[in-house]
Parts: sequence; C-alpha cells; structure tokens
Amino acid sequence: MKLVLTGAAGRLGSYLREPLAKLADTLVSSDIVEDIGTLYPGETYVRADLADADAIHALVEGADMVVHFGAIGDERPFETILGPNIIGCYNIWEAAYRHGVRRVVYASSIHAVGMYPKNERIGIDVPHRPDTFYGLAKCFAEDLARLYWEKRQVEAVCMRILSCAKVTNARALGSWLSYDDLVLLVTRAIDTPVTGFSIVYGVSNNDRAPVDNTAAHFLGFQPKDNAEVFAAEILAAAPPADPTDAGQFCQGGPFASVPLGESGTATMGIVDDRKR
Ligand SMILES: NC(=O)c1ccc[n+]([C@@H]2O[C@H](COP(=O)([O-])OP(=O)(O)OC[C@H]3O[C@@H](n4cnc5c(N)ncnc54)[C@H](O)[C@@H]3O)[C@@H](O)[C@H]2O)c1
Repeated sequence: MKLVLTGAAGRLGSYLREPLAKLADTLVSSDIVEDIGTLYPGETYVRADLADADAIHALVEGADMVVHFGAIGDERPFETILGPNIIGCYNIWEAAYRHGVRRVVYASSIHAVGMYPKNERIGIDVPHRPDTFYGLAKCFAEDLARLYWEKRQVEAVCMRILSCAKVTNARALGSWLSYDDLVLLVTRAIDTPVTGFSIVYGVSNNDRAPVDNTAAHFLGFQPKDNAEVFAAEILAAAPPADPTDAGQFCQGGPFASVPLGESGTATMGIVDDRKR
C-alpha cells in the first residue's frame, strides 16, 4: 500500500510518520518546508504547496490513500486560509479522484461545530456551526468530501479532532486526544475495509468529553487515554470560571470568542512537543 501524508512536518504529522511508514509499503510524506529531517524506513519526502494543483496532482499519483493533515492550523484572515485550507482541500480531493485514490483520511476539526455549547453533547449529525474562518474551511472540506463520495466514489473519513496537544487547561479535560489515540484513530480509518463518507470525532476516552462519538464505533476506535488523570492539577490552577465567555462554554474554546481572523491558539498554551 502506498500512503501520502500531508502536513508531515507539523506537530501531529511528527507522531504519524513512523507508524504510517510501518503500516504502508511506501509512505510519501509531504509538507511545504524544505526538509523534515531523518526519514523512517520506507518513507520519502516531497515538498509541495497544497495550493499548487500541479504539485498536488504529482504528489498524489499512484497512492492508495491520502492522510491529509496539511493546513494552516489556526485562525487567520480569510485570504490566508483560502489557499492552504480551502483550495488545498479541493486540490487533494480532485487529485484523489483523477488518480483513482480509494480514500482520504482527513484532519477535520471541532471548529467546524465550535459554536455549539458544550452541554449539548453533540453527535456528528448536527448542522455545521463554525467558530472561525479556520472552522469554515473545515466545513467546506467535509462537504467536499461528501460530494466526492456521492458523485465520484472517493471514500473519506473526516476526523473532527478536538485538541491533540499536551493537557494544559480545563477545556482539554474534555477535548484531549492523546498522541497514542490519534495514531489508533488514523490507523483504524485506514485499515477499515469500507468507510464510505464518514465523520467521527477525534477525542480520547475522557470522562468530560463534550461530544457523542458513537459514530466512531464502526471503525473499531476504542480510545485508551482519559484526561481525568490531569483533572486535580489542572482545576487547582484554572482561572475563575466566566459563564458569559463563549470561549469557556462553547465547543471551540478560545476560537469561539476571538474576533474573526485573529489567532485562537494564542491563549491556549499549546506546547510544541513534536516528536523529533
Ligand atoms: N492539533 C490539534 O489539536 C488539531 C485539532 C483539530 C484539527 N487539527 C488539524 O490537524 C492538522 C495538523 O495539525 P497540527 O497541530 O499538526 O498543525 P501544524 O501547524 O503543526 O501542522 C500543519 C502542517 O501543514 C503545513 N502546511 C501549512 N501550509 C501548507 C501549504 N500551503 N502547503 C503544504 N503544507 C502546508 C505546515 O508547514 C505544517 O507542517 C491540521 O489540518 C489541523 O487543522 C489539529
């Protein structure tokens, strides 16, 4: 099996490269950066800009599946999001269709539905309710994925990842996806024989998970980690709760309260603990 991984130089990509290189016969890792360092056995690196259709078509040709993680990973002005996150997704799906790729495994986001209050415990079937231009691009990609399944039979697993990062704040007690559970979810999204068009949440087995992820059962995704182990320490240090702050009561966290175009991650204390 030949896999293409976009966003390979990113934080989540750094945890996916080694297991995907083991799972595939050939892994083609890709990103816009010059170099991603030492390659794993079976891995090659191709530099490509997601917004460059010719480059993406050349990248995807001959692949069985594409694991699409490349994107601007934060809120930015619409004009900045447009190329990598919107046109980039069109290029990936169109290339997948033209080159007979079976499935795209896609890093969607909770920010596609980030304005829902957390006490509604949403499933995968609620209407899109993005919190940012970044979230709007994820909505576009999910609809694109559905369109390419229904009209062109390209399968897709859209994983609405909540927050895959070291637990540093109270929101993450519900939203955490551990790196091990990320690898498990992506592996199941690849090795499940038939997925059609699917949406699942990317979240660990947290006591406080604010979403209903029963839709992920058919993938055999049984997350192993639970952020509750961090609860005592995190809650003791948490700032005073403000029930009027959308950033505290909505799924999207700070993305739900930032002005459009301004960084949502700036206040989240994300640790750059990428695998090196
Ligand atoms: N980290 C999370 O908690 C989280 C949550 C939900 C969704 N996601 C999604 O998961 C994916 C990976 O997230 P991450 O945290 O590793 O982000 P990251 O920023 O560390 O990685 C994204 C990678 O995409 C690459 N990229 C950006 N623009 C590009 C372009 N024009 N062409 C080619 N590559 C380009 C970057 O160079 C970077 O290496 C993203 O699609 C993100 O939206 C992440």
